[in-house]
Amino acid sequence: MNRDTILVMDFGGQYNQLIVRRIRDLSVYSEMLPFDASIEEIKKKNPKGIIFTGGPAVVTDKDAPLPDPKVFELGVPILGICYGCQLMGHMLGGSVEASDIREYGSARVAFRLEDPLFWGLDPEGLCWMSHTYQISKTPPGFRVVASTPSCEKAAISNNEKKLYGVQFHPEVVHTPQGDDILRNFLNICQACADWRMEDFAAEAVAGLKQKLEGKKALCALSGGVDSSVAAVLLNRAIGKDLICVFVDNGLLRLNEAKEVEELFKKKYDMNFVKVDASDRFLQKLAGVTDPEKKRKAIGEEFIRVFEEESKKIGQVDYLVQGTIYPDVIESGSKNAAVIKSHHNVGGLPQAVDFKEIIEPLRSLFKDEVRRLGVALGMPDRMVYRQPFPGPGLAVRCLGEVTEEKLEILRKADFIFREEIAKAGLDRDIWQYFAVIPNLLSVGVMGDERTYAHAIALRAVASTDAMTADWAEIPHSVLKTVSNRIVNEVPNVNRVVYDITSKPPATIEWE
Ligand code: XMP
Repeated sequence: MNRDTILVMDFGGQYNQLIVRRIRDLSVYSEMLPFDASIEEIKKKNPKGIIFTGGPAVVTDKDAPLPDPKVFELGVPILGICYGCQLMGHMLGGSVEASDIREYGSARVAFRLEDPLFWGLDPEGLCWMSHTYQISKTPPGFRVVASTPSCEKAAISNNEKKLYGVQFHPEVVHTPQGDDILRNFLNICQACADWRMEDFAAEAVAGLKQKLEGKKALCALSGGVDSSVAAVLLNRAIGKDLICVFVDNGLLRLNEAKEVEELFKKKYDMNFVKVDASDRFLQKLAGVTDPEKKRKAIGEEFIRVFEEESKKIGQVDYLVQGTIYPDVIESGSKNAAVIKSHHNVGGLPQAVDFKEIIEPLRSLFKDEVRRLGVALGMPDRMVYRQPFPGPGLAVRCLGEVTEEKLEILRKADFIFREEIAKAGLDRDIWQYFAVIPNLLSVGVMGDERTYAHAIALRAVASTDAMTADWAEIPHSVLKTVSNRIVNEVPNVNRVVYDITSKPPATIEWE
């Protein structure tokens, strides 16, 4: 289906993904392209409107990122945000200068309501500013349509050409009328609000059916949300021609392997291969204490196991992966420091000789994947699962990974999860789990001295796992969890709660 699309052109700002999100939340499909996409690439997307994002560069610098100037000749409405606004000023005959005052944070803004971008708004409100430069001379054909006390040209508009620029950020929650401004822009674009998950599901199934009819596809199923939704989607399209391989690496949570197997084999009647590889993984991890070495060992072993299994299955042309949109966007940034080597079941293409990789969730954000899961009739407990790292409990079992420590960890983790669910907090907290920090301490139980393991509880609030705050769980819940863990889990005499945010910590301990 040819859906109305708003193109977001990426100039490197920190809120870029959020712009795409906001547009999709307003039920209009949106995609991001790099700032230097050619005019042909842009035309191919047939956009109803274009948004230039913010970014860290200075538009007057020699190497400043600029779009192909022909973009202004497409006759498509354009909204420039922050840097995006400045570049419009700069490229269309105005000028941009450093402001007297650097403006970061909330500012009072007055809107000229006769401008279609601001129709229906309150005439005054707050907006979020984050800039050092601003438009000093309005380009010809434009007029100023919003001002803040320190930024006279906080928004510019050329209604005839449908070109708009806002110096502030309408996409962040700190601009309370931001959604209304974006909605007005979508109206200016005459973009149809038809982005609905039910339609996406039906279209995706039909498309996959057409492409893969009569052919076999292999899916490395981790039981996580993304690979599970991808598997259900493919199963709808090609039924038993989809073969799901689920590797039990011995690093899963209590009952996890059983639950995944029951869902996919019994409920969905899928072609499901469970590989019990626990011993192999634990052998590879014997004596390994360094977090990065653990991650690498698990990643490599996974590939070995998967390779062996796919050889047994015979020639399969297609590999299904649960890659989602943030992965696609993030893989574009090459200069980031390696904090942790993430291992996903997705990292497989070199391992086995496939003709093609199928990534049916490539255009979706995490919560859209969840909505798709719901639209496909998947149970809430699968769709709203918290994220779980590829290396599993190994990165929550500090020091050497042993069966004894894993057993303690599984039990403690299960109790924590159970109590969080009982308290009705399971949908509110991004992630919550137990860690065994490889630390013995002295305690007293009955009249006996004990020297036993400590368990750390980790629970965080986050929206995207890039940053996180420790979750403020009611003390009564923590108390119950602590009591239950020391009473029900042998060889544990102490429970601590991790009160560090990310940064400076990370969510997982390793
Ligand atoms: P950190 O610990 O880096 O984690 O703050 C951020 C998010 O990523 C998850 N995580 C992983 N997910 N493979 C994954 O698929 C991995 O290797 C991995 N390591 C961490 C973590 O649980 C959190 O949600």
